[in-house]
Amino acid sequence: MENDLEKTAFADSDKPKFFGRRKGRTIHKTKQSLIERFLPEITIKADENLKTDELFSFKPQKIMLEIGFGNGEHLAGQAKNNPDCGFIGVEVFQNGVANLLNLITGIKEGINLPEKFILEEGRVDNIRVFPDDVRLLFKYIPDGFFDKIFLLFPDPWPKKKHASRRFINKGNLQELARILKKGGILRVATDHKVYKDWALRQLSADNNFVWTAKCSDDWRKAPADHIETKYQRKAIAEGRKPVFFDFMRV
Ligand SMILES: C[S@@+](CC[C@H](N)C(=O)[O-])C[C@H]1O[C@@H](n2cnc3c(N)ncnc32)[C@H](O)[C@@H]1O
Repeated sequence: MENDLEKTAFADSDKPKFFGRRKGRTIHKTKQSLIERFLPEITIKADENLKTDELFSFKPQKIMLEIGFGNGEHLAGQAKNNPDCGFIGVEVFQNGVANLLNLITGIKEGINLPEKFILEEGRVDNIRVFPDDVRLLFKYIPDGFFDKIFLLFPDPWPKKKHASRRFINKGNLQELARILKKGGILRVATDHKVYKDWALRQLSADNNFVWTAKCSDDWRKAPADHIETKYQRKAIAEGRKPVFFDFMRV
């Protein structure tokens, strides 16, 4: 039974099945225009190996990945706080991608788009986006490419019969370990009781990672560099306590 639960959702196929939502409410005009005109400028295509010097117009000190960035507050905030680092954000949900574009251009709904896009004042062009399933990107990411990977509030799929849909599973952890530098950090946050246990069990059983926590504050409190996300706010408002697991690639 355990083995069955730990199978990846697409073990036998090249095309991973995605069980979440790709689109929500109608995307209004300004965001739609941002998707059509600005997104292509920062989109990564999954057709050849990623190369740092081709992704960014500067040499990033570190490269970070955020998987499932949702509305993009954390990704946009991290990129703003760390202008010397390069960020790759991955999200399937189109409305979330559109929201990120809002955040990084500062262009709000109803504003006419300028002829040429400029980033929000003071912002360095250090974000690239893959607006699809991260599993399609894995094979184009060289070994040890990232210094840090964020997986914040992944869909918990709490029912046992849906356990194979959980992003943290043996296959995905193997890929994350491969693309993370030795000494790099994988940060997983969750507010869901089932997922807390699941994630800890899966990560602790994986010899590629060691938990960096030395005391309970290290995982019960948000790390100093963390930026609150939409799901985190929702969880707190509903009385759930988020936890943050930093695992180091050994
Ligand atoms: C529960 S939401 C959390 C969003 C955000 N991290 C936050 O904390 O507000 C999980 C997000 O992960 C995205 N997601 C799930 N599986 C993914 C995958 N394989 N590749 C890219 N994004 C994925 C979903 O579309 C969804 O937006």
